[in-house]
Amino acid sequence: MTTRLPSTGAPATADTDTTCRSDEVVRIHRLFRRLFAEAPTLVRDVEQGDAERAAFLARYLHGLTTLLHLHHRAEDEFFWDRMTERAPACGLHVAAMRGQHHAVSDRLDAIDALVDAWAPEADVLVAERLACSLDELDRMLAEHLADEERDALPILDAVLTDAEWDEISAHAQREKPPLPLFVLLGLMIDSLPEGERDAWIARELPGPMRLAYRLVGRRSYERAMRRLRPAGAAPVALRRLA
Ligand SMILES: [Fe+2]
Repeated sequence: MTTRLPSTGAPATADTDTTCRSDEVVRIHRLFRRLFAEAPTLVRDVEQGDAERAAFLARYLHGLTTLLHLHHRAEDEFFWDRMTERAPACGLHVAAMRGQHHAVSDRLDAIDALVDAWAPEADVLVAERLACSLDELDRMLAEHLADEERDALPILDAVLTDAEWDEISAHAQREKPPLPLFVLLGLMIDSLPEGERDAWIARELPGPMRLAYRLVGRRSYERAMRRLRPAGAAPVALRRLA
C-alpha cells in the first residue's frame, strides 16, 4: 500500500493508506475519452452510400459501446455497494455515479440502434443523427469520467483491498473482448503516455502474449488502424492526448 494525501470527501479517518489501484481505471478512461472523441468525425467522413465502409465502422462502434457497457457493469457490480457500506458519507457521490451510468447506458443503446439504422444504406442524414448522438455521449463521458475520478476513485482506493482490486481485474480479463484482441491491445497501448508503455506491457501482458503482439499483433492492429483512419493522420483529439 502507498500513502496518498486524503482527497475531498474521503472518510475522515487517521488511516490514509490507499492502494492507488484506481490508476488502472484511469488508464481505461483515457482510452474511452480518445475513442469516443474521434467517433463522430469517423461517422461524418463516410460518404453517402458507402455501405462497405459503414459496415466496417458499425462493427467497430458496436465494439466500443459494448466495451463501455462492460466497463460500467463491472463498476456497478464491484464498486458502489462496497463504497456505500464502507464510506457511508459518500452516498451522494455513489448516487450520482449510478445515475450517470444509467444515462450513459441509455445513450449507448440509442447509438447502437442508430448504427444499425445507418449502416445498410450509409445515408448521410442518418449518419448526422448518429454523429450528434456520439457528440452527446462524448459530452456526457467528459463529465462522468471527471466526476468519477475526482469523487469516487480516491475513496475506492482507500476502502477496497488489493485482493478486491485483483478480483476486479480477473473479472475484466474473463470477459470476451468485444473487439479483436490485438486491436484492443494496440488501442490500449497507444492511449498510454509514451513513457508508460513499456512498463505497462511488461506488467500486464504474459510473456507469450507479449511475443505474439510483437510478432503479429502489432501489424494486425496497424492494418486495422489504417482502415479505421484512412487519412493517416490521427485526429487532433488523439494527437493532443498522445
Ligand atoms: Fe463509471
